[in-house]
Amino acid sequence: MLKVAVMVSGGGTNLQAILDAVADGKITNTKIVRVISNSTKAYALERAKKAGIPSVCITRKQYPDPEEFDRALLALLQESDADLVVLAGCLVVIPQCVVDAFPNRIINIHPALIPSFCGTGYYGLKVHEQALARGVKVTGATVHFVDGGTDTGPILLQKAVEVQPGDTPEILQRRVMEQAEWILLPQAINLIANGRVQVNDGRAIILQ
Ligand code: GRF
Repeated sequence: MLKVAVMVSGGGTNLQAILDAVADGKITNTKIVRVISNSTKAYALERAKKAGIPSVCITRKQYPDPEEFDRALLALLQESDADLVVLAGCLVVIPQCVVDAFPNRIINIHPALIPSFCGTGYYGLKVHEQALARGVKVTGATVHFVDGGTDTGPILLQKAVEVQPGDTPEILQRRVMEQAEWILLPQAINLIANGRVQVNDGRAIILQ
């Protein structure tokens, strides 16, 4: 049984997609053991509560010393006994000590086709604003393993989504969530939970 801790910051629609997929059997061999938020206002915490999943909020503001926050987050994840950490709409930069403690065991959903529109400063609506400003005809979402960089780890899954005439950043964000993010993240967890993913030399491989 894969024990999963999900880190959130906002509305939690990606968390909800995971919870729904576990409930309807699209994700097997998995237990969501903890939801960790960096915002007390995150609606994702409500979603966790409704699903009966223990949740905790940890913010950098609580720790004057940034390294204390890093250690506290690591302790929370280790105490949750998670095998996999899933960043689901999570805006926290994952400390190196956490990346080191969970090698190839942290995945993130990014709302673009990495290496496009990613890296520092590319999150939330900003990603879609940049995609529209560049005039791309196709965007999408990426699930990747988290390494020491920002959106730089091995790519596991990607799904393309068409940009349509008249799209606003909000409309495009919603389409990317519905048609890509909410499909890819549960799919990635299920693959990992069922032993179908290997990471070799910086490449994520899906075993048949
Ligand atoms: C959205 O911008 C989504 O594209 C990205 O995180 C943000 C919020 O997601 N992955 P969620 O609703 O909190 O899962």
